[in-house]
Amino acid sequence: MTTPVESDGTTRPDGWWRSAVVYQIYPRSFQDSNGDGVGDIPGITSRLDYLAELGVDVIWLSPVYRSPQVDNGYDISDYQDIDPLFGTLADLDALIAAAHQHGIKLVMDLVVNHTSDQHPWFVESRDPSSAKRDWYFWRPARPGCEPGTPGAEPDDSQAAFAPSAWTYDPASGQYYLGVFSPGQPDLNWENEEVRQAVYAMMRWWVDRGVDGFRMDVINLIAKPEELTSGRPIEPGQGSLRRMANGPRLDEFLVEMNREVGLDAKNLLTVGEMPGATIKVAQRVTDPARHELNMVFTFEHVNLDQASWSKWDLADLPLPKLKGNLAAWQNGLAENGWNSLYYDNHDQPRAVSRFGDDSPEHRVNSAKTLATVLHLHKGTPYIYQGEEFGMTNAPLTQIGHYLDVESLNYHALATAAGVSEEQVLRSLAAKSRDHARTPVQWDDTPYAGFTTGVPWSAVNPNYREINAEAARHDPDSVFAHFQKLIRLRHQNETVREGRFQLLLPDHHQLWAFTRTLGDETLLVVANCSSQPAEIPSDGLPRLDNTELLLGTHPDAVGTILAPWESRVLRL
Ligand code: GLC
Repeated sequence: MTTPVESDGTTRPDGWWRSAVVYQIYPRSFQDSNGDGVGDIPGITSRLDYLAELGVDVIWLSPVYRSPQVDNGYDISDYQDIDPLFGTLADLDALIAAAHQHGIKLVMDLVVNHTSDQHPWFVESRDPSSAKRDWYFWRPARPGCEPGTPGAEPDDSQAAFAPSAWTYDPASGQYYLGVFSPGQPDLNWENEEVRQAVYAMMRWWVDRGVDGFRMDVINLIAKPEELTSGRPIEPGQGSLRRMANGPRLDEFLVEMNREVGLDAKNLLTVGEMPGATIKVAQRVTDPARHELNMVFTFEHVNLDQASWSKWDLADLPLPKLKGNLAAWQNGLAENGWNSLYYDNHDQPRAVSRFGDDSPEHRVNSAKTLATVLHLHKGTPYIYQGEEFGMTNAPLTQIGHYLDVESLNYHALATAAGVSEEQVLRSLAAKSRDHARTPVQWDDTPYAGFTTGVPWSAVNPNYREINAEAARHDPDSVFAHFQKLIRLRHQNETVREGRFQLLLPDHHQLWAFTRTLGDETLLVVANCSSQPAEIPSDGLPRLDNTELLLGTHPDAVGTILAPWESRVLRL
């Protein structure tokens, strides 16, 4: 196949995304350029030199489309325009062009499981006689119940950010489905016109020069038969989990790929898939099927919870975490492809969650977590600020929280009798607000994020932890990320080598090999705040190895310091 060349000279050779490192930008919190306290597109453009210095290949841009901002832009009212908060279409065109000049590709967030309730499609759909009524899921009240009264919802499904997935519309006497919040009604993908409208919109963005899509909750577009049949829904314990991986998922993804030319144009495609198993991912990422390049699994970020609820906290022993990543490595070793991440705009900060963010161990634990992740096989994703070790914020009272998910959880849990103290403990561990504090660029007021008042409080540790300090320190987390990215670009074993987990039950050490042809790399990492001895059993011999990369460059011997990691060539 010939490599497509865009008008600005950008090329996307076959499989280019297998050697790429992606950097996620949450625009609201990245860089403000106009002093309104909210990050914007010109702010991103002004930081491209920084991203080029880090060495990343791709930006994934969280939503900048027109939106009432009920869920910070994941509720879109116009897919083909930019929200004035973030700038204009001309600003976005300028960002794409400037990113390409820096050798960086740009991937848009595609949010098509739902729209905003302000989207013209939904506004029209509210009229029962409109041609767009069937573009969303409208259902009558539960049989025998008075519409609009408590308990009359078509079923018991809860929404992710609201008590019920069904919202009553008094004008028509019916309910519509919104599995996230009432402001985010679900599109009915069974309707052919909906699918064609989405594909047309995607082609419009491809023509504008974007290099791919990160697809928001894409496995929720194919709804279960009980919902699509149009029959009254059986009452019972419905839930968001039931909505995922419906029977027509693969069919819709194949159709989208063909209609938009996703593979034909070598675009990067990554599908966010809550509830997807290795089996689902094997199908979806098998290149022969032409669905998606890779998916975001939730399995590893759901391990530190005791039930289906993320707020139900549980300890996470290391064997569980490394075992899960290893299962995905093995499961997708033949045909599929993994995405690799700990952090994004929905997760607490990895260094606080899986590492040790105390002053003593923050730098080495951030480096070691990164070493382990980036030495797995797949496409690594870095979330803004992760590359210099940003931590969770000190959020201690409900007044510190801004996110719709956190506020909804607080309201529902306290109403159900859970103590304030326990709710605050869960929020402090898991709230999405931790990821959304402004990027700490330097030690000037508001960390150089804005000249105005930031929409979300800057983490007070910005005087010590900031990009500028990290850039000038050869031993920083930032410098370590640069080395990891360089190593991936230069070394084919890092990109394509076979993975094997070692010492699966060890509670401190995360160890594995990557092998391609004659080359074997051994990664051995102490994921604890105590020293750890490298055992002689269960690992290859360490003498005559070459240290390719380590947290403690002069390290020798068999004792690893707290959070020390080594990448060795055997
Ligand atoms: C995805 C997004 C999240 C959003 C939700 C609804 O999980 O990552 O931020 O709230 O979808 O769009």
